[in-house]
Amino acid sequence: MATLVKEYFNWLAAMYDETTAACAWSAPGHIANAALPLLHAGQAVLDLGCGTGQSLAPFVDHGCRCIGLDFAPAMLAEAHRKVPQALLARADLDEPRGWPVRERAFDLAISAGVYECLDDPVGFLARVRTHLRPGGALVFTFDEFVPGHPAQGVRVGRADSGIPNPIAELTGWHLRRHSIDRVGAWLEANGFVLHWHHQIEADIHSHFQVPVYYRLVVAQATD
Ligand SMILES: C[S@@+](CC[C@H](N)C(=O)[O-])C[C@H]1O[C@@H](n2cnc3c(N)ncnc32)[C@H](O)[C@@H]1O
Repeated sequence: MATLVKEYFNWLAAMYDETTAACAWSAPGHIANAALPLLHAGQAVLDLGCGTGQSLAPFVDHGCRCIGLDFAPAMLAEAHRKVPQALLARADLDEPRGWPVRERAFDLAISAGVYECLDDPVGFLARVRTHLRPGGALVFTFDEFVPGHPAQGVRVGRADSGIPNPIAELTGWHLRRHSIDRVGAWLEANGFVLHWHHQIEADIHSHFQVPVYYRLVVAQATD
């Protein structure tokens, strides 16, 4: 499934910023608002699934040393064009052998709009923990299971929230939606304290024309 997700984002890359603007994609802004007050210039930030750089840019502008990881080369090419100050590398966040960055090196890890794509959401948290300094923060979003919602009322559903997805249409690629009780337990089991979380309107669903709700999470690595 990882290959299909990667090819979807390679296909979308040239239109990603325009399309996300049209559906009012707000997760990168929420992450920046939550995380920038925790940081000062010069600190090290790791963006997991950086895409075209929307989530990375506010931290570069803040004077942080930023690395973005993503597995879609076309998304990374856009990010390199828009945010040339950031270091970028190809990596599969589901890769159990880990990612091509130093352990215990980062003050902050962020991830916007990625968690629901992962095959191994628990292993992801364990890997983030190894790359954070003790006391470092993880600020991320996940696509939430919302009972009764026309798109989010199923835990595993079509990958088309907000952006038309012909690859999902043809292949049956599905997103995994989560709940905070489950994600909170996974965080605790992997060396994090869950500081706070709240629901955000992440974008507008292109078909149902209703808000798509994500959960914004701020957690801290224990010593
Ligand atoms: C919805 S976009 C979000 C991009 C950016 N963070 C933003 O907020 O605009 C999801 C990104 O995660 C990347 N991604 C999804 N699954 C991944 C995986 N297993 N490994 C690496 N990158 C992944 C995709 O290639 C895509 O660039």
